[in-house]
Amino acid sequence: MQQNRSRSGRQSFKRYVTIYSVIAAIGGFLFGYDTAVISGAIGFLKTRFDMDSGLLGWTVSSLIVGAAIGAALSGSSSDRFGRKRTLLAAAALFTVGSIGSAVPDSVAGLVAARMIGGLGVGMASTLTPLYIAEIAPARHRGRLVSYYQFAVVTGIFVTFFINAAIAGIGDDRWDVEYAWRWMFGFGVVPGVLYFALLLALPESPRWLMKQKREVDALEVLEKMNGKEAAKEELHEMLRLKDEDVGSIRELFGRSLRLPLIVGVLLAVFQQMIGINAIMYYAPEIFKQTGAGTNAALVQTVLVGVVNFAFTLVALWLIDRVGRRSLLLIGACLMTVSLIVVGICFRAESVPVYVVLFFILLYVAAFAVSFGPVVWVMIAEIFPTRIRGRATAIASLCLWAADFAVSQTFPMLVDSIGTASTFWMFGAIAAAAIVFCAKVVPETKGKSLEQIEREWSSR
Ligand code: GLC
Repeated sequence: MQQNRSRSGRQSFKRYVTIYSVIAAIGGFLFGYDTAVISGAIGFLKTRFDMDSGLLGWTVSSLIVGAAIGAALSGSSSDRFGRKRTLLAAAALFTVGSIGSAVPDSVAGLVAARMIGGLGVGMASTLTPLYIAEIAPARHRGRLVSYYQFAVVTGIFVTFFINAAIAGIGDDRWDVEYAWRWMFGFGVVPGVLYFALLLALPESPRWLMKQKREVDALEVLEKMNGKEAAKEELHEMLRLKDEDVGSIRELFGRSLRLPLIVGVLLAVFQQMIGINAIMYYAPEIFKQTGAGTNAALVQTVLVGVVNFAFTLVALWLIDRVGRRSLLLIGACLMTVSLIVVGICFRAESVPVYVVLFFILLYVAAFAVSFGPVVWVMIAEIFPTRIRGRATAIASLCLWAADFAVSQTFPMLVDSIGTASTFWMFGAIAAAAIVFCAKVVPETKGKSLEQIEREWSSR
């Protein structure tokens, strides 16, 4: 009986952490939404504003530039004003950006609005994983933080259908004048919903501790983990609390050098492996194999489905198999896939289905490894006293690398060819194997405080 009661008690605590993590994870949906919405809108924008490729590039990447700035700002803002308030600001910026992108009659207005929305996406992309990592019990942290990546891929997937539904409403003239406005404007729905739901979240107990608000921190911990576990966690936090607040100088000092290298390189590898070349340009790549426009679009949907399905697999594996093993398996599979895709593009006649199979294998491998694991690890490897700012640096590098890949991919294909471009990504994936094997630690099942202590003993 006693045992039953304590089990049901544990379940109700688990319920709170899960609900709070799901709410926070909606930040990932905004990210996915913005990644996919542009692919639906771009054709209409091109006609409406008579854009050349330079302007087109800016319209696409203005969001990424805004996101990089948002990621950079999120660090000191969340360390100073709290995780929750900064997330609220992110939701507000995203909403303003969505409205702003729907109304302009000039490219400048559109680029400005996408930058504002990007600020919100960048802030949310940094803080959502961090917030969840700070509230989650160690045993389930991997899965809970991966909800974030799951929300990203859901956002990409759902938006693909929203795009298609809106484009199907009117004739071509309506599309060019209005369809893209509705596509962007629809972002208000998840934006406002996110803002409203965020109001129900408690502040992160670890941030509260840093503010010396122990009573508040204990209250949040008890609600989420139960009285006993809360006391233990508080005790662990107290052991580390005496160390003063980390400064930016400390961040580049000796003691934090290794976690910073791991965080930044994981972020850069996640992007340089080429995932967004596939996410942003999939239809173009498939067309190069000789597939018609419709077949290319169907194949692109398959990319979305595989990404979605294998992210679910990752949720199940991450706290069982561990982060490091997933990274290693994923990087090996991606290396092989990229080499094979490169070989196919060198062949006399490109074997369409072989390319499709290995691109899907590559996406599946990414979805169980670098997709979720990198976001999980950059949220958990830094000490609490500096987590906001350190995570922001890693996230800033991730967005900068995203920008570099998405801007240069079309140029690389034109200059060195599709095969060599894929081989280049393959070489980067191979380097990632070495890096993960030699430098990346396993963090599965460890409390944030334990991870922190282990760095200092390395
Ligand atoms: C990760 C990456 C993001 C990419 C997505 C694809 O979240 O950070 O750039 O678009 O995975 O699933």
